[in-house]
Amino acid sequence: MMQAEAEAKIQEVEAGSPALEQIQQLESDYLMQTYARSPVMLTRGKGSTLFDDKGKSYLDFISGIGVNVLGYDHPRVRRVLREQGNLLHTSNLYYHPYQGQLAERLAKASGLARVFFCNTGTEANEGALKLARAWQRRQGREDKTEFVSLINSFHGRTMGALSITAQEKYRKPFEPLIPGVRFIDPNNSANDFAEAREAINEKTAAVIIETIQGESGVHPINDDFLKAAREACDKVDALLILDEVQCGLGRTGKVFAFENTSVKPDVLCVAKPLGLGVPLGAFIVAEKAVDGLKAGDHGTTFGGGPLACRLSLEFMAMLEEEHLLQRVAEVGNYFRKHLRRLQRRQPGLIKDVRGMGLMVAAELTFAGKGVIAKMLERGFLMNCTHDTVLRFLPPYIIRKPEIKEMLANLEEVIVEEAAKAGQS
Ligand SMILES: Cc1ncc(COP(=O)(O)O)c(C=O)c1O
Repeated sequence: MMQAEAEAKIQEVEAGSPALEQIQQLESDYLMQTYARSPVMLTRGKGSTLFDDKGKSYLDFISGIGVNVLGYDHPRVRRVLREQGNLLHTSNLYYHPYQGQLAERLAKASGLARVFFCNTGTEANEGALKLARAWQRRQGREDKTEFVSLINSFHGRTMGALSITAQEKYRKPFEPLIPGVRFIDPNNSANDFAEAREAINEKTAAVIIETIQGESGVHPINDDFLKAAREACDKVDALLILDEVQCGLGRTGKVFAFENTSVKPDVLCVAKPLGLGVPLGAFIVAEKAVDGLKAGDHGTTFGGGPLACRLSLEFMAMLEEEHLLQRVAEVGNYFRKHLRRLQRRQPGLIKDVRGMGLMVAAELTFAGKGVIAKMLERGFLMNCTHDTVLRFLPPYIIRKPEIKEMLANLEEVIVEEAAKAGQS
């Protein structure tokens, strides 16, 4: 179909689709009320731009919370979708051509040995916890069942993943959670991280750490702490699990965020962009722990299906062939440099600029909710976490002029919103 013809078709379909107001009514009547959505209905995308039902465009600085890293309507993704349309799912009862190939790619890229595919980040972490317990038991260490996690961590919403998530607001309604979890402060460097060395002990099955804490406001974990945690794990034979669900797979300018540090995990959890929007997660395991799970110990109906794995293979190939890692590093530096300039111009309004690659945060001195709403009105999608932190997770294909345009608008909006909050 010619471009103009395709556009006309899209508009025809959009014109026949229910309006935002109708959908809001249906959701308010029939959907569990667990999400506070922004009042926008997205209907299509192109590059780093999304369009709503009324044809208004939005520059995307959140990419579906770190998922849509190639933006929208990428020709290589369209081709895979077309070609794989006749076999979406096989179950794990049979082979299909892509799971083994993707496992090889992830194992080689991470320097780890074997992969288990699931569907989400939560499930990857959940599986990693199960692996740790089962592995300890298989070593004859029946009492080694506890987990150590970090304060401010976020690992997901299932009971296991929630049990190692520190934040009270997520945990409270669901207690009691799995017992035997300790939360430690990665910034407490007193006595060479004595707190961590004491918490990681002969009862510890595994330690789980987000290499860069995302949900709590983009906090890279300091390398000295990671080294201390690695040493403590080695001393007591606990597994070190790195949760790179948000920061992995190119987001920092390396395939995995731990490549920016001096440690290597025993288990690595990834998800979000892995299936380019089709749910796919994985935990990747070091040789020493691969016999933790045997046939029948763990499984999933959907995990590692042909469509998701084939999309993922295309993504992994593109990271290399289209030099996306270099791009993320360079454009990310540009983003932070210009955000810091904005901070210098508005010193009372931005407390901190943080991040790595295209995982970027600006911590405001006032609540960010109004900023997000105003930026949405101006056609920019982003998100606010921990009340005051503007979090940017744009697609890896975002361009410098698009960043510049967003920052020019952001400066005006934060000045306006700070004045309302009595900050200027
Ligand atoms: C670090 C981290 N772990 C786990 C999760 C949970 O992933 P999912 O929402 O795919 O279950 C998230 C989600 O934001 C995350 O950021």
